[in-house]
Amino acid sequence: AAYEMILTEVQGKVAIIRLNRPKALNALCDQLMEELGQALRGFDADPEIAAIVLTGSEKAFAAGADIKEMQSRTYPAVYLDDFIGKRWEAVTHVQKPVIAAVAGYALGGGCELAMMCDIILAAENAKFGQPEINLGVIPGAGGTQRLTRAIGKSKAMEMVLTARMMDATEAERANLVARVVPLDQLLPEALKLGEKLATLSAPAVAVAKEAVNRAYETTLAEGVKFERRAFQALFATEDQKEGMAAFAEKRPAQFRNR
Ligand code: HXC
Repeated sequence: AAYEMILTEVQGKVAIIRLNRPKALNALCDQLMEELGQALRGFDADPEIAAIVLTGSEKAFAAGADIKEMQSRTYPAVYLDDFIGKRWEAVTHVQKPVIAAVAGYALGGGCELAMMCDIILAAENAKFGQPEINLGVIPGAGGTQRLTRAIGKSKAMEMVLTARMMDATEAERANLVARVVPLDQLLPEALKLGEKLATLSAPAVAVAKEAVNRAYETTLAEGVKFERRAFQALFATEDQKEGMAAFAEKRPAQFRNR
């Protein structure tokens, strides 16, 4: 597909999607989000792809939704357009693991987009924030919910109410990100993670992702029940037989994704 605002690349079994509107610090306009959705759906459907890395530039993962595009919109228009549901939820519908590799600014919708991904890796220069309050609005792509679940109420309140940014060190301490790495190691580390995922059983990885996500949607008892059924169901895969046989035979497993 010919994209204008993102770059896509495949390395082995890992797809890389790079947000690419450098002059606007990757502000997430409608066209960019349409292209991102299309690329995500394409890679999710491609059996040669095991994981997706979503990244931006060294200066910005994304500085938010495109303020200039949003500014003149009216309530009926954003309501009827389902702004931002339709275009923004694509990443939450992906079955394969999505790794956000964040360098520079991840602000507003940029922070929300990173939080929709499964694992966030941050470069040392990453800055996270929900500055929407400065614009007279609030986060609209899950920020008040996902940030609160990730870092807790007090810190989330401070960030959402005052627009204070968090640097990478604080984001790691607050459990917003899995790991902080030097800027020049960001993409290599994200790819390494993706390649690791590619060696595992794809059904097990997808089920594991679904089960962890269930923790955000349900009670503990229901979540544990879901997990148990999902665990039991994996005994229907050849990969379970292979994984356990390989352990017993002291050799690496050769998963065949079935
Ligand atoms: C449109 C943006 C933009 C944005 C930056 N730009 N962020 N354009 N929407 N969100 C543009 C600037 O207008 C400028 O264009 C160019 O990118 C470079 O930005 P500068 O401000 O000159 O860079 P710098 O001084 O380095 O400051 C970086 C920054 C600042 C701190 C990240 O750009 C900033 O505060 N941006 C807005 C952050 C924000 O409020 N995000 C939340 C958006 S609301 P020109 O043409 O002047 O060179 C949101 C709601 C989500 O995300 C709800 C769901 C959709």
